[in-house]
Amino acid sequence: MQNPNFHIVKHPLIQHKLSIIRNKNCGTKEFREVVNELSRLLGFEATRDLPLKNVKIQTPIAMANCKQLTGKKLAIAPILRAGLGMLDGMLDLIPSAKVACIGMYRDPETSIPHEYFVKCPEDINKRRVILIDPMIATGGSCIDAVAALVKRGVPVKNMTFINLVCVPEGIKAVYKKFPDLKIYTAAEDDYLTKNNYIVPGLGDAGDRLFGTK
Ligand code: PRP
Ligand code: URA
Repeated sequence: MQNPNFHIVKHPLIQHKLSIIRNKNCGTKEFREVVNELSRLLGFEATRDLPLKNVKIQTPIAMANCKQLTGKKLAIAPILRAGLGMLDGMLDLIPSAKVACIGMYRDPETSIPHEYFVKCPEDINKRRVILIDPMIATGGSCIDAVAALVKRGVPVKNMTFINLVCVPEGIKAVYKKFPDLKIYTAAEDDYLTKNNYIVPGLGDAGDRLFGTK
């Protein structure tokens, strides 16, 4: 995908950890742990452009010229359910972030997402929002989640989407609608099955995180 806002984060730790969760024999406990580790690593990269201000700090020895975060406060927006699996990792990085939960359910027959719950901090329109969801397949859930935030006053340029595995079809659909969305992913896979599962993918991320099915 040739959009300057689309980033595949190619780091050995990320590639190694992704190989662990792709394995169908990876159990729920390890799957959860590694998804959170990946979320931290991707979150680190996706927050590289956060603005800084100069501050002077008195160390025990002397005054030091330092940098501190400035600008908009942050909100993390997990797309339920599977996005919840990435939340602790993101909150480890940004413990003071508020959380906006976006409930999306992909109909198993049609793959059309249905919004069932949205609860955002009151000042969400003033925040930079980091959406998290392990999978972008058709792109429908990502598009609807971004639209739910736009409806609440968040400009797309203030949003970043952190994802583990996507496919070209889904990314193309997302960028047709929201070309300004920043996306950070660990991998762009090959294609979708006729049931809209990512190939090779990692199966149903929500089921694997929550031990359902
Ligand atoms: C999965 C995944 C994404 C969505 C991706 O969620 O976590 O939200 O599918 O597919 P799409 O790009 O075709 O919309 P699902 O709806 O299965 O719900 P869950 O998180 O509750 O398991
Ligand atoms: N949702 C998932 O959890 N996995 C896929 O492969 C596609 C959508």
